[in-house]
Amino acid sequence: MNKTQLAELAKAVLKNNDLGLWTRPAPGLYPHQWLWDSCFIAIGQARYDPNRAKKELMSLVRGQWRNGMIPHMIFDEKSNNFTGPHVWQSHLSPAAPPGIETSGITQPPVLAEAVWRVGEQMSKDERLKFFSEIFAALLRYHGWFYRERDLHSEGLVVTIHPWETGMDNTPPWIDELTHNAMPLWIKIIHKLKLYPLFDIFRQDTRLVPASERINTSISLLLFHVQRRLRRKQYDSLEILRRSHFSINDVFVNSILIRNNRILEDIAHELDEEIPADLRISFKKSHEALEELWCEEDNQYYCRNFVTREWIKSPYIGSLMPLYSGAISKQRAKVLLKTLKDDLRYWTKYPVPSVPISSPSYHHLRYWQGPTWINTNWMLIDGLRQYGFFSEAEKIKRISIDLFAQHGAREYFSAIDGTPSGAKDFSWSAALILDLLKEKG
Ligand code: GLC
Repeated sequence: MNKTQLAELAKAVLKNNDLGLWTRPAPGLYPHQWLWDSCFIAIGQARYDPNRAKKELMSLVRGQWRNGMIPHMIFDEKSNNFTGPHVWQSHLSPAAPPGIETSGITQPPVLAEAVWRVGEQMSKDERLKFFSEIFAALLRYHGWFYRERDLHSEGLVVTIHPWETGMDNTPPWIDELTHNAMPLWIKIIHKLKLYPLFDIFRQDTRLVPASERINTSISLLLFHVQRRLRRKQYDSLEILRRSHFSINDVFVNSILIRNNRILEDIAHELDEEIPADLRISFKKSHEALEELWCEEDNQYYCRNFVTREWIKSPYIGSLMPLYSGAISKQRAKVLLKTLKDDLRYWTKYPVPSVPISSPSYHHLRYWQGPTWINTNWMLIDGLRQYGFFSEAEKIKRISIDLFAQHGAREYFSAIDGTPSGAKDFSWSAALILDLLKEKG
C-alpha cells in the first residue's frame, strides 16, 4: 500500500468513530470523550478537515470546570459503559460545570499542542479566530495546574491518580499505589484468589483478551482510589492535605512544560500577554524538571511528592524530557543512549512503554510494556528537537509499518509487533495520518 492509500485507511477509522461533537477513541470499549485522545485525534483530523478538528477541541472546553480544570472524560450519557457518570458523580463538586457529566480529574495537558497543530493547517484569519476563541480556556487550564497542583510553587505539578497520566497501569504508579494505598479488602481478595467474582463485572475483558488489559487487583485499586477522590469532592487541596500517593510524574511534567511553551507561542500570535504569575510558574517549571534527574542512576524518575523519595521504576515517561524541550543537549544525549540500549528500549518494534529489562515489563499488557503510537509520536518530535533525526526516522518508519500491517490497533508488542488491545483505535489512526502527511 502506498502513502495515500494508508492515509485513506487512517481517515476512514476516524470518520467511523466520529460521533458528531467528538470522536470516540474506539468502538465498544471507549464510547466517551477523553481529553488527550481528542487532542491527538484533532491533530490527525486537521490534516483533512481543520474545522472538524477545531470542533473536536472546542467540545473539550465545554467540560471545563469553574476552577479551570479540563476533565479527562466527558460522558456520553446515552452509553451505559461502566466507567460512567454514576461512578464519578462530578455534581458533588461545586467546581463542576452545570448540565454536563464529567470525571473529576485531568489527563496529560496536550491541548495547547493540539490547538497549535490544528491552527497550522488553517488560513491565518481562521487560525487567529480559533486561537482567540480558545485562548482564555487554555490560560485557565494551565493556571489551574499551578494553583491547585503546585501548592508550594516549586514548578513541578503533582498527579493524584494514574488515570491522570493517561497510562493507567504504568509501573511507577502501580508500585506506589500497592505500597501506600492497598486496602485490606483488596489484599483479602488477592489472598483468597476471589478475582473471578469481580471479573464478571468487567466489560473491557469481554472485548479485549484479559491478558492485554489491566489485571483485576490493579483495576479494583484504581477504582478504590477514585472513590477516595470522590469523597473529597475532587477538591485538590483537600486531597493533597492527607495524600500518601501524590506524585511528581516526569511524563506529566514534561508534557506540561512543552505545552506552556506552546501556549506562549499562541499568545504571541494573538499579540496577547500571559499573566505575570503564570509566566513565572512556566519559567520555574522549565528549570525544575532537572530535579527529577537521579544522578545515581543516570535517568529521570517520578518522585513521591510527600516523602520526596524516588520511585525507581523506569517507564516511557523517563524518556519524555526529550519531548519537553527543556533539557540540555548533554542530558538529551544520555536519554538517546538509554533509548538505543537494546536491553531496554531499542527493540525490534520500539518504543516499549516499559524497558524490557524491567521486572514489571509485560509483553502485551496495556501500559506495562507494549509500544503505543502516541508516545512514539511524542518521542519522534522530541528526538528531532535535539537533532537526532535518524532515530526519529526509524521510529516513524516502524510505527507506519505496524499500522500498514495490522491497522489502527491500540498498541503492539515491542518485541514481535503482535497487534493488541482495541481495534480501530482513533489516536493510532490520527497520529499515523499526521506522520504520513508531514513534509519531508
Ligand atoms: C485508557 C488509556 C487512556 C485513554 C483511554 C481512552 O484509559 O489508558 O490513556 O485516554 O483509555 O482511549
